[in-house]
Amino acid sequence: MLSYQHGYHAGGPADIHKHRALAGVLSLLTRKARPLTYMETHAGRGLYDLTDAMASKTGEWRAGIGKAVRDDHPYWTALDRVRAHFGADAYPGSPLIAQALLRAGDRCILMELHPAEHAALAEAIDAEVHKRDGFEGALALSPPAPRRGLMLIDPSYELKTEYAATADFVRALLAKWPEAVVMVWYPILPDRRHTAMVEALGGQVHETRFPPHKGRGMEGSGLVILNAPHGVEKVL
Ligand SMILES: C[S@@+](CC[C@H](N)C(=O)[O-])C[C@H]1O[C@@H](n2cnc3c(N)ncnc32)[C@H](O)[C@@H]1O
Repeated sequence: MLSYQHGYHAGGPADIHKHRALAGVLSLLTRKARPLTYMETHAGRGLYDLTDAMASKTGEWRAGIGKAVRDDHPYWTALDRVRAHFGADAYPGSPLIAQALLRAGDRCILMELHPAEHAALAEAIDAEVHKRDGFEGALALSPPAPRRGLMLIDPSYELKTEYAATADFVRALLAKWPEAVVMVWYPILPDRRHTAMVEALGGQVHETRFPPHKGRGMEGSGLVILNAPHGVEKVL
């Protein structure tokens, strides 16, 4: 089932939480000169236009990037670099946030299954872009070279079974690539369906709650980070 389109949610509060954490963790990992691999299981289209029909329909970005207050976090370095290139109405997905912070010798490997999202992603970024199932592709390509690296797992959770599948995937991934820094994003919904997955993952948890909003079921945004780099509390 591929009905989810991130364009409705780009730049919303959950994106700000996830993308700040991503930029923060990458800024820590890129302090060391040794090259790294950035990999993503569910990459999305990479670049969004906050004036297009999808973003305008939900207006979610207004409560996210529309309200975000500039500070000295590396998230703004990434956003500024993308907007310098694509304009002030552009909002980067996680692949472009990552690309803005990666160095010349680093690798960027992205999985996206939706044909139109994949085509847009391949257009937006100069990286290794695969049209294949994220879990299957990431396992097949792990461990990558360089082995130092970060895996972002950001499924759409359209099916309740994706929570258990994500926990199973991370277990299998770490068996093949034990040193990977792993970040798993999840929505905080009224029925707390993420609880078993978060317990099974067992990493460092970082959650943020959103002010109540008419018509939005999601109450907050969560991340689990495994093999978190030293200093992660500061960037979160
Ligand atoms: C939440 S969005 C990703 C957003 C992106 N990580 C970001 O922060 O900008 C989830 C994406 O996963 C894609 N997707 C759904 N099922 C997939 C699968 N089995 N393998 C790879 N991608 C999938 C969807 O098309 C959608 O673009």
